[in-house]
Amino acid sequence: MNIHGQSAIVTGGASGLGAATARELARRGAKVAVLDRNADGATALAAEIGGIGLACDITSTDSVVQALAAAREAHGSARILMNIAGIGTARRIVGKDGSPAPLEDFQRVVNVNLVGTYNVTRLAVAEMIKLDALADGERGVIVCTASVAAFDGQVGQEAYAASKGGLVSMTLPLARDLAQFGVRVCTIAPGLFLTPLLAELPQPVQESLAASIPFPKRLGKPEEFAHLAASIVENLSLNGEVIRLDGALRMAPR
Ligand SMILES: NC(=O)c1ccc[n+]([C@@H]2O[C@H](COP(=O)([O-])OP(=O)(O)OC[C@H]3O[C@@H](n4cnc5c(N)ncnc54)[C@H](O)[C@@H]3O)[C@@H](O)[C@H]2O)c1
Repeated sequence: MNIHGQSAIVTGGASGLGAATARELARRGAKVAVLDRNADGATALAAEIGGIGLACDITSTDSVVQALAAAREAHGSARILMNIAGIGTARRIVGKDGSPAPLEDFQRVVNVNLVGTYNVTRLAVAEMIKLDALADGERGVIVCTASVAAFDGQVGQEAYAASKGGLVSMTLPLARDLAQFGVRVCTIAPGLFLTPLLAELPQPVQESLAASIPFPKRLGKPEEFAHLAASIVENLSLNGEVIRLDGALRMAPR
């Protein structure tokens, strides 16, 4: 799909990989709606790229319905959905004192990363499939954001890895489900990227993380994620696939 002139939704667009992707889509001529639970951040990023910033909690149906309606009003129904919002956590299933991890912690991460992504996807795609097909029969493209933790989850990453593994597993059935409408679905599984989360770590920790990556021996740049996300939109044959973007990193147990 030619990105120029298309209406696009980017969840988690206020920060990190989402912000870089919103910028890249705008640079390629898309009309971008930045959805984030950080309303100020979404508004600021949208102002920078000439898009629209909308407060949205991806886990809330009401919130997503409202944000999608506002985005549609401003730009028309979206043909591009970038599911990038997510949260991380690390917690061993049994603590040092022998007490079990709170169930709520596990549920919160799965609810945001997996259920939230499904929630935005189901609501956005219901609008997408009503759009006219483009010349090649295509109506839309959906990109989800997993993590290499879906494959090489580390100690304490049970919730995060399960949530991202759910996205990996959901990719093919979503692509199969939506093929009849000409909607493609791919998932990116990033390795270690230099977003605000990692940028806050002390320099020696960043360097030791970077040293674990075979090549290039540095943290990924958010622009590299954005480049792949945009390439997926532009490449009609990419569908139902999960792509690791990790410099050949395989995470150690801890
Ligand atoms: N940075 C990395 O190295 C890395 C590696 C693998 C996967 N990822 C994944 O990439 C995505 C982006 O990560 P990032 O590093 O840019 O993180 P980030 O914290 O910089 O950005 C995430 C954004 O999502 C938003 N968000 C969180 N919960 C939300 C909700 N319920 N509703 C709406 N917005 C919500 C946050 O407000 C934030 O702006 C996440 O899904 C993360 O799991 C990141």
